[in-house]
Amino acid sequence: MSLNTIRHDYKITKADREKRNGHPALLLWFTGLSGSGKSTLANLVEVALHKLNIATFSLDGDNIRQGINKDLSFAPEDRTENIRRIAEIAKLMVDAGVVTLAAFVSPYIKDRENIKAIVGEANVIEIYVNTSLAECERRDVKGLYKKARSGEIKNMTGISAPYEAPEHPDLELITDHQSIEESVQIIVDFIVKKLK
Ligand code: ADX
Repeated sequence: MSLNTIRHDYKITKADREKRNGHPALLLWFTGLSGSGKSTLANLVEVALHKLNIATFSLDGDNIRQGINKDLSFAPEDRTENIRRIAEIAKLMVDAGVVTLAAFVSPYIKDRENIKAIVGEANVIEIYVNTSLAECERRDVKGLYKKARSGEIKNMTGISAPYEAPEHPDLELITDHQSIEESVQIIVDFIVKKLK
């Protein structure tokens, strides 16, 4: 509901903030299965961008779900609301002139389309961390796949809930046979060109 609200426009704009920062603001959206390496890659990409004097901030699924979104489950409608709220937060970050990195499973195509609608398609770079389910399950860093297989966890993406892979991501990393360093370099090279 947004009844009886009137939008105020402030004098300092996104363009002013980008000018001060010396680079455009973008949203780098990492999508992929749990355990695919989204957060690891986002973390290292942020370190590299920070070293290049770029204003950055990271939003992470596990962290956000312990705070602002702790009322949300992994049922489809709650995942949709999770992503909608993150997109609204990311829009504020981008309007603040910051290169924002977001690492969320975000399994539904319609939800990822909604991110672009909220933040503006030109501001969003969709990065598909394409790690096979077999590899994510082999790593099982958080033990979630084991719990999902035994039925202890319901709605586990890849096991008992769908993952709709991006059809035309801006960047796709097939990580099964690629080192973390290689993936980070590919992303950084891609992003740095966009920030010129
Ligand atoms: S999303 O689907 O709504 O985008 P989000 O990225 O916020 O998911 O949270 C995913 C993280 O929550 C995973 O990295 C994992 O650690 C944890 N998690 C717990 N239960 C599930 C589940 N059923 N499906 C996927 N991830 C889960």
